Order: sequence, then C-alpha cells, then structure tokens
Amino acid sequence: MTIPSHTSVGIVGGGPAGLLLARLLHRAGIDCVVLEARDRAYVEQRQRAGILEQGTVDALRSCGAADRLDREGLVHDGIELRWNRRSHRIDFPSLTGGRRVWVYAQTEVVKDLIALQLADGAPLLFEAPVTAVVGADTDRPVIHYTHEGTDRTLTCDYVVGCDGFHGVVRRAIPEGELHTAERVYPYSWLGILADVPPSCDELIYAHSPRGFALHSMRSPSVSRLYLQVPNGSDPASWTDAQIWDELEARFAVDGDWKLDRGPITQRSVLPMRSFVTEPMRWGRVLLAGDAAHIVPPTGAKGLNLAASDVVVLARAFAQWAATGTNAGLDAYSDTCLKRIWRAEHFSWFMTTTLHTAPDQSAFDTRLQLSQLDRIAASPHAAAELAENYAGLPVG
Ligand code: FAD
Ligand code: DHB
Repeated sequence: MTIPSHTSVGIVGGGPAGLLLARLLHRAGIDCVVLEARDRAYVEQRQRAGILEQGTVDALRSCGAADRLDREGLVHDGIELRWNRRSHRIDFPSLTGGRRVWVYAQTEVVKDLIALQLADGAPLLFEAPVTAVVGADTDRPVIHYTHEGTDRTLTCDYVVGCDGFHGVVRRAIPEGELHTAERVYPYSWLGILADVPPSCDELIYAHSPRGFALHSMRSPSVSRLYLQVPNGSDPASWTDAQIWDELEARFAVDGDWKLDRGPITQRSVLPMRSFVTEPMRWGRVLLAGDAAHIVPPTGAKGLNLAASDVVVLARAFAQWAATGTNAGLDAYSDTCLKRIWRAEHFSWFMTTTLHTAPDQSAFDTRLQLSQLDRIAASPHAAAELAENYAGLPVG
C-alpha cells in the first residue's frame, strides 16, 4: 500500500473512534490516513465493550458498516437491576419513547470497519506507531511515525488523536492549554468470557454486600461477566470455581433463577477511572474518544461516546470540505463536551450506586439501597436511568 506524504485528515489510532471517523470521511469524499501502532490481529481481538446505543448503530448503518450487526447483533429492550435479593427490570422503549440498545462486541465493530476500510477505504497502516505530532498551531501539522523500521512523516491539514488514553497526540497541545478533571475509583473489574449460554435474556447489574457483579453476553452461546475486585488484583489468583461461586453469591435472588457455569476462555482485570480533558481542539489538532475522556465502564458509555465524538467531527469536516468554513470544527469541543459530561455523570452514578467502596459505611450503603428502591418505585427515576443508558440523540 502506498502511503501519501500529505493528507487532509491524519488519524492517529485505529480503534473504534479512528476507524469510524475514517469510514465517515471516506464516504464524504474527504481523504484521510489512519496510523495504528498495533497489528491487525491485536486490534481485532482486544476484548472491551459490548453495548451499542441507538446513535452508534445509526452511525454504523449510515456508512454501510452495519450489515453483520443487523444480522447478528442482539437487540435489548431493557436491563435488570438486582439488590437485596430482589430484581427490577428497566424497560427502555416505554420509558424513552422507543429507544433500545444492541449487544454487539467492540471486537466485531472493529473487525467490520477494518474489513471495509481495507476493501475500499482510505489507507490504514498497522504497526505504524506515531512518535510525535508537531505544529498544532500551524497550517500544516506533521505526524512523525515509524513503519517497517523507518522513520516517516505525514503532513496534514488536520490531525485527529483517536489514540486512546495512553496516546501521544494529546501531548502536541501545550501544557497549560488543556484542563483535566479526573477520578480514580478504589476498585477494579475482573472480566471473564465463558463458553456457556447466558443465564439471562437481558443484562443484570447486581448490587450486593459482597460487591458489584454484571452479567452480559457476546452471543447466544458466549457469556461475558464481571466482578468488582480490589485494585491491583491478579486475575490468575482466582480459580474458575472461585469466580463462579462469587458470581453466584452476588447475583443471588429470591426465586428459582440459576447461574449456568462453563469453561472460562479469557480473563483480565480492568482499573476504573473518570477523566476529561478540555478543550478537545487546539489549533489543527483535535482529540476524540478515549484520547479525550474516560468513563468507568458501569454505564456502558465508553465506546458510544467515542462514536458520537466522531459523528460530530465528521459532520464538521464535511462542512469544512464543502464550504471552507471552520464553524463546525470551532464548535466541535463544546458540542461534544455537553454529551461527555452527561455520560461522565451517569457513569459515576451507576458506578457509585452499585459498587461497595473499601471504606464504605452503613450510611453509604443505605443511601445506595434507597436510590435503587426509588428507581423501582418511581417511573420518573427509572426513566432518568433509561434515557441515559439507552443514550440521548447525537447532536
Ligand atoms: P481505543 O479503543 O483505545 O483505540 C485507540 C487506538 O490507538 C488503539 O488501537 C491503540 O493501539 C492506538 N494507539 C495508541 N497509541 C498510538 C500511537 N502512538 N500511534 C498509533 N496508534 C496508537 N467500555 C465499555 O463501554 N464497556 C466495557 O466493558 C469496556 N471495557 C474496557 C476495557 C479496557 C481494558 C479498556 C481500555 C476500555 C474499556 N472500555 C469499555 C472503553 C471502550 O472500550 C473505549 O471507550 C473505546 O475503546 C474507545 O475507543 P477509542 O477508539 O477512542 O480508543
Ligand atoms: C458490557 C460492559 C459494560 O461495561 C456494561 O456496562 C455492559 C456490558 C460488556 O462488555 O458486555
């Protein structure tokens, strides 16, 4: 593949944000190049999010990337909350005017976007780590990267950092221009994949005196489950039987529900953090997705925020390419930050309502249980949760 030395939009990072942006720009006739540090197999197999909001599905459909999602994705109309051995279902369509979510793994979204891009899209280079972006305040910012042992450069009209939380593009913006807000949580998740049909039709979010647990799924034959664990936990320190026993204890509910067990095929521990950096644009460098913001995973927002950022950004680039106006690019940061801060609040709320902190008092626990009781008792409280979970329209 020949890589040009200049492009309109240089995209750093081939995760969901970078790949979807490239697809949307390609469809709008705007040239771009994607540089991804890792190899294709690594990017396609990195186990992460699993829930897509309506707006994310709409975006994938709008650029022809939803054929398999429409065939294989599982449409979910609600979630179940469990606490005090009771369960309560939140029905999304009736509480949100018809919105719903899709269970379709991030790995599959990424595979679909990569296949399309390699078939007919803009250049996408794997194993091409970006080392620096210079000239953010000039008309021609330059990306420095290495590929096949050679140092290379790509000059751009704009550079978009879709390179995740640990990426390098944020560093192209001078310290002092960016303001960050952050919270690190005193617990992590142990996530497992298991070859067993899910023991539920919809996701279960469980509050328990032993800590939080989540039952999700990847397909009718593969379950995805999470357990709250202390920070720094070693995934290998748990036997499979201990994991299943702990999950069973945390999901315990009155009635005859049963958790089915199966072989655990993957496990990892994920730390939890809230983080926002503002503004998301400085000069000709823009940030999108995890490069600009992180949420704890409890509200299933991370991937969806990455998608909504790049939908707004692709519209702004289309306006710039068609008319030469920067109005959309100038408004990008403020437009996205409204939605981002809403998702930050929701993810913090879901996390702190459902997890048990190491120093949690009886008072804190009673507040959590009161909040869960309120959601069960009031359609208004339930609707607040449902609207945030199912996702607000992308604006
Ligand atoms: P990423 O997916 O991080 O993609 C960034 C890409 O940039 C990567 O491919 C990386 O290799 C590449 N890159 C980095 N540095 C460079 C460089 N210097 N040069 C070139 N390329 C570079 N969200 C949920 O909703 N539910 C979950 O269960 C969940 N689990 C998660 C588990 C983990 C371990 C992590 C890290 C995140 C999880 N998330 C989850 C969040 C969700 O997966 C992210 O919000 C989503 O991946 C964001 O997409 P992105 O494209 O912005 O960033
Ligand atoms: C999944 C992850 C989440 O963080 C969540 O809230 C729901 C589902 C998942 O990986 O399936």
